Amino acid sequence: MTDLLITPLTAPAPAAGDFDSAVLEAGVDRILELFRTLQDAGALPPVLSQVAPGTVANQIPLQAPKAAEPLETILGDVERIIVPGITHWHHPSFFGYFANSSSVPSLLGEFLTSGLNANAMLWVTSPAATELEQRVLQWLWTAMGLPDVESWFGIITDTASMSTLLALAAAREAAGYDVRRKGLAGRTDVPVLRVYCSEQTHSSIDKACITLGIGTDNVVKIPVDGDFRMRVDALDAAMTADRAAGMRPLAVVATIGTTSTTSVDPVPAIADLCAREQVWLHVDAAYAGVMGIAPEFRWALAGVERADSMVTNPHKWLFTTMDCSAFWTRHQDVLRSAFSLVAEYLVTARDQQVVNYMDYGVQLGRRFRALKLWMVMRAFGTDGLAARLRDHCEMAREFAAQVESHPDWTLSAPLPFSLVCFRHAPAGMSDTEADAHNARILAAVNVTGRAFLSHTKLHGRFVLRLAIGNILTQREHLDLAWSELQRAASAQ
Ligand SMILES: Cc1ncc(COP(=O)(O)O)c(C=O)c1O
Repeated sequence: MTDLLITPLTAPAPAAGDFDSAVLEAGVDRILELFRTLQDAGALPPVLSQVAPGTVANQIPLQAPKAAEPLETILGDVERIIVPGITHWHHPSFFGYFANSSSVPSLLGEFLTSGLNANAMLWVTSPAATELEQRVLQWLWTAMGLPDVESWFGIITDTASMSTLLALAAAREAAGYDVRRKGLAGRTDVPVLRVYCSEQTHSSIDKACITLGIGTDNVVKIPVDGDFRMRVDALDAAMTADRAAGMRPLAVVATIGTTSTTSVDPVPAIADLCAREQVWLHVDAAYAGVMGIAPEFRWALAGVERADSMVTNPHKWLFTTMDCSAFWTRHQDVLRSAFSLVAEYLVTARDQQVVNYMDYGVQLGRRFRALKLWMVMRAFGTDGLAARLRDHCEMAREFAAQVESHPDWTLSAPLPFSLVCFRHAPAGMSDTEADAHNARILAAVNVTGRAFLSHTKLHGRFVLRLAIGNILTQREHLDLAWSELQRAASAQ
């Protein structure tokens, strides 16, 4: 046994702290340099990575090195191999999907999170992580103009997809079939469970239902009105028909800010129906929820106070580094009974006194995400956040006005927030031709690296989407995107 102890190590023991702080500083400088570059019009990298598939992988050996490599070498390879393969979400001309960016306070928060390396699974495993998470979610709830904060339990997850999974798991628990113990297979005492959402709803609802054993056949896609909002009459009819067929309406997912167009479902009327039917109401406000921070946009959150749960993503439009999704429910006890499972080695003396976040979700180990959100909310203040969100919406309206004033371009959906849906549809071009034409425009603009947009389909037609959500985006970037679009349209 002593042999092991006295055998000299074949490699030198790492210095305390393992690595030289100068290298760490060089890494931080590199991040700051990236931010400087993204604010320098003359030095902007292409938004969309220009590499071909396999380019990055082919430069990376098939196996990890046996011998240690200097961090300087690795950082050099980040520059040489990785950065060219990055599509720059921080770029001011990133307008795809739901454009989002981080910010300096968040970056610092994320860095500190990494430095502290706290695991927020139990209160005792970092009291600050748990207590800050609770407090910062109370801040955000109230900042969005939502009432009665004491009645809502908040938890930060990685993504809206996970938050919605928790919501629907809680809905299933609330239905009282003890699925966590008995499962669903082979049971005659459990009717078919149905989840309702609009046909514009994000695919994360289907994914949650896949995971929870509800099945995508039981995700009922309710038709929308002319402005892409869930039709409450159709929802009512669907639930009534399902009950008549012996099925059980379990939950409705209403969306505030749908992915394709940012339409807002009529949550108050949906809440009425859910109350009547005793059905869980989850609100997916992944993108647009934070807009409640600007008081004039609070109309969009009407009815949320009557929901059972709700999600919004600070990592989408609140300048918070990926990942950070804020989830609240009025039924802390139900969420807990859906997930709590305390192994002996996790029991602590404080369990009756504190929140142990491991009890409220799938994960045991949890990142300390609250720190960056706290730093963002403090460093901007709610006024500063509202001003930036407001400006994004204003820029979107200005862009839409340009589109609308051009005879060959047309808006494809209303714009309640900062997303513009539009297409090039000159007179005489058929809808089908215009679909292919707009797909070519999109590809031509994106390949320039000067702007990046994405697309969707509305009423079966190919539509361009320009989403503003990046903290660095200014009017000049929209002007550039507009001229690139026009150039691409006339070149096709
Ligand atoms: C309305 C809506 N819900 C959910 C999601 C999923 O978000 P996440 O990537 O955080 O899972 C999105 C993503 O864009 C979304 O637009």
